[in-house]
Amino acid sequence: MLNLNQLFQNINIDVKKTTTIEELDQIKIKYLGKKGILTNYIKNLKNFSLKDKKKYSVIINHSKKEVINNINKHSKYLMTIKLEKRIKQEKIDISLPGRRFENGCLHPITQTINYIKNFFFKLGFQSINGPEIEDEYHNFDALNIPKNHPARDCHDTFWFDTNRLLRTQTSNMQIRIMKEEKPPMRFIFPGKVYRNDYDITHTPMFHQIEGLIVDKNITFSNLKWIIYNFLYDFFGKTVSIKFRPSYFPFTVPSAEVDIIKKDTLQSLEILGCGMVHPNVLKNVNIDWNIYSACAFGIGIERMTMLRYEICDIRSFFENDIRFLNQFKYN
Ligand code: DAH
Repeated sequence: MLNLNQLFQNINIDVKKTTTIEELDQIKIKYLGKKGILTNYIKNLKNFSLKDKKKYSVIINHSKKEVINNINKHSKYLMTIKLEKRIKQEKIDISLPGRRFENGCLHPITQTINYIKNFFFKLGFQSINGPEIEDEYHNFDALNIPKNHPARDCHDTFWFDTNRLLRTQTSNMQIRIMKEEKPPMRFIFPGKVYRNDYDITHTPMFHQIEGLIVDKNITFSNLKWIIYNFLYDFFGKTVSIKFRPSYFPFTVPSAEVDIIKKDTLQSLEILGCGMVHPNVLKNVNIDWNIYSACAFGIGIERMTMLRYEICDIRSFFENDIRFLNQFKYN
């Protein structure tokens, strides 16, 4: 009997000592498991006399219930502690600001192209993309730039073979579209062009938007009207526009346009334009006695440089995220 009391005391002490559910489980197994100490004790009762069996069974059952009660209580206690610990560990500070999503943005050149397209869409122009790998005929010959013409020199062409090349200008599209469509027509042709040139104002690949209007009675004043309205829309009235007589084999008369920023006096040549040369109209079978045409070619990088006061054209293609991020909210 003394032994038995001692045993129950030990169980209760051991139970109390446990600090985790896992430890408590071990104690349960130690005393109440299949081969547990108390279980063995109960098994041994069968060797007792009937009278003792009865007497001890009552005591053991009573104490066993108490032990199980204690274990359950302690288990609940340990569970609460475990939960409190978890809550403390996993506490989140809902006042912390959330993680920001890093949004990308369109490249500044794409933004400029989109802006310019929208301007011309409002005037009823259609936008068409053309091939960057071109032949000599569309890039030069049909544009009144025959072989050995000095104008070819300033294009620093990338040739694939004696006929194929990377187009040096979007003017190739004038030929392609005038051959396909019947006047009247109003088109813009945005795209990449290539010249073997590399310095602070030149990169081997850059972008142009070509414009073409073919109709009856198109004159230089129509061209000027469009160019002025377009440039004032793009830059605002803070710029001076300078029309300078120039020479292009495929237009006559021809002009180049410089933009001068009134505040910084930064100045850049940003487009060439003119009345499409009768030879070009002949090449595409448009009767130049009935129709006339004007055209212009805008340098996208230069437009963007002036607008945002960028002084090195190469910044556009270096993929420096610090540069590109500045165009996020335009
Ligand atoms: N294609 C010329 C260049 O790349 C620019 C140009 C000049 C385009 C006059 C035109 C034009 O359409 O009429 O330098």
